[in-house]
Amino acid sequence: MPARVLNGNVIRDEIYAELAGEISALAAAGIRPGLAAVLVGDNPASKIYVKSKIAACEKLGLASIHVTPPATITTSELLAIIEDLNRRDDVDGILVQLPLPPQVDARKILEAVDPAKDVDGFHPLNVGRLVAGRPTLVPCTPAGVMELLRRSSIPLEGANAAVLGRSDIVGKPMALLLMHANVTVTVCHSKTRDLPETVRRAEIVIAAMGRPAMITPDYIRPGATVIDVGINRVTDSAQAEKFFAHFPERLAEFRAKGTALVGDVHPDVAGVAGVAGAFTPVPGGVGPLTIAMLMSNTVKAARLRRASRVPAAAAVRH
Ligand code: GUN
Repeated sequence: MPARVLNGNVIRDEIYAELAGEISALAAAGIRPGLAAVLVGDNPASKIYVKSKIAACEKLGLASIHVTPPATITTSELLAIIEDLNRRDDVDGILVQLPLPPQVDARKILEAVDPAKDVDGFHPLNVGRLVAGRPTLVPCTPAGVMELLRRSSIPLEGANAAVLGRSDIVGKPMALLLMHANVTVTVCHSKTRDLPETVRRAEIVIAAMGRPAMITPDYIRPGATVIDVGINRVTDSAQAEKFFAHFPERLAEFRAKGTALVGDVHPDVAGVAGVAGAFTPVPGGVGPLTIAMLMSNTVKAARLRRASRVPAAAAVRH
């Protein structure tokens, strides 16, 4: 049986349709949620991500504020920007695009964001709430993976999952969310022994190591659900020839453009080798859900922070 494709674009549209209802209920109460995106310097990848986040705000009718200080900014100058955004009543969510330049103390900046406006879920207070299983603003990519699993009816309770990667942004919160959903979680990393064997025990595999096409069919238990969080840009043609050896269309696209996106999962896992039961493609899998959850967190932050001003009917969800 061919593997089932878990299409992130379709699930994103479902989430947007639900958010639209919530946004119009808030609008009826005179509230328009607003997101402030802080983009320091001109890292090309960060610029593309922030542009997509602002475009999503526009599509949904949320207000957006784009702050673009130069790469030479100091920690105290950036702190002053954050404090101003913390004070502004029209700003419900604050997003500081990472990475920050080396002279900026990133930890200080993330800790300065008002936890009630921390739509990335990176503030230690929100991390602590997540660990304790209390309601909070949850990091967007792992929250998006949970939406994808739930809305695709992938059985969670009692399932074995392998999370590959232990980053603060994806691996750690992912493991916590799965644990709270009664999944048995193994967190794997660069020092894990017998990695293929360990991952082969999992019914759910979350690949978030940032290593192009590392997860090959021999890692996968037949029928497993494979979620690929990796977004790796490949420009080396020898690499592309190897990854897309069985995918002539993708290879032709690479040859035309000189670049391609590859996940942390080898395309063979779901393609010719066909071991997985269900999988997320790259692009078009987890990526669209990260931004959808950022929108959802912004609406949620607006609802919670301005709760006393919202009639009960508009405050039904969560
Ligand atoms: N850089 C890479 N991923 C993220 C993310 O989820 N949020 C922010 N703010 N920056 C990032």
